[in-house]
Amino acid sequence: MAYSSSRHQSEVMKRRDLKASSFLKINKLSDIAGAEIIDIDLREPIKLETYEAIISALLEHHVLVFRNQKLSKEVQVEFTKQFGELEEHVGRLPDGNRYPLMHTVTNLDPATGIPTTAPHTHGNYFWHTDKSYHAVPSLMTILFAVDVPPTGGDTLFCNMHAAYDALSKSEKEALIGLKAVHSWEASRLNTGNIPASEEQKRERPPVIHPVIRTHPETNKKSLYLGMHVDHLCGIPTIESRRLLETLLENATVERNIYRHSWQKGDLVMWDNRCLLHRGDRNYDMSAHARILHRTVVKGSKPI
Ligand code: OGA
Ligand code: MN
Repeated sequence: MAYSSSRHQSEVMKRRDLKASSFLKINKLSDIAGAEIIDIDLREPIKLETYEAIISALLEHHVLVFRNQKLSKEVQVEFTKQFGELEEHVGRLPDGNRYPLMHTVTNLDPATGIPTTAPHTHGNYFWHTDKSYHAVPSLMTILFAVDVPPTGGDTLFCNMHAAYDALSKSEKEALIGLKAVHSWEASRLNTGNIPASEEQKRERPPVIHPVIRTHPETNKKSLYLGMHVDHLCGIPTIESRRLLETLLENATVERNIYRHSWQKGDLVMWDNRCLLHRGDRNYDMSAHARILHRTVVKGSKPI
């Protein structure tokens, strides 16, 4: 396959005047986030112009939806590699084995293949940005819908630029210089998931990120929060928790959200640097399968 691995995004960004719409058919899905890219078969290697247009569209719309794709796991990995280095996972499958590079978001019990609501399926249903418990968190996540419930099981995306912009001048000022501790351990606790093992805690010690994040490509500010946060640095625990809850509640209001209703064959990619996301349990998890193939691209240290 003639895929070219890891094209250089920074080079692409230097040519940001490029009009994505002259190389791609784009259908905007909402004003806050989300656009469909039409008439493209991601099994085929994409031309440099198309790649650049995809990056440009991602920066503008934050969530891109490619419908009716037919991708093997191998081809999804090759497709993903074009956008950067694939991330490893600290998460373990119920049998104790580490998630593979390409892993599956599913509500099926791996042993029986039967839908389950067990704790390991919970993690994705709380607002978060992927791998913010890493010193260098994710740039992009790609999910490919293999099987979806007849209705529901949506994924919600919250535009955190809009959340930041909606703060008053004094609220913004109060957050300047504020940092948050993110950790795998806190994430497990916050979501009622299987607690972090000692090995996982050693692998992923807590990290500190700014609460106001500047997007490395667009220079726009956003709020960088979510369920992987343990506490805000230098603020007493109860107050920190209260402030985090308030910030999250005000950020994740309807007008800041794009709701993606999955269709089988959708490939969705999103920008973790300026969005929070979560799954919606608005389907019968114990009756219907929801299977999404997932690849994640490493980003840069938040500043
Ligand atoms: C993820 C994620 C949400 C969902 O894969 O990173 O958070 O809707 N998924 O399953
Ligand atoms: Mn996620």
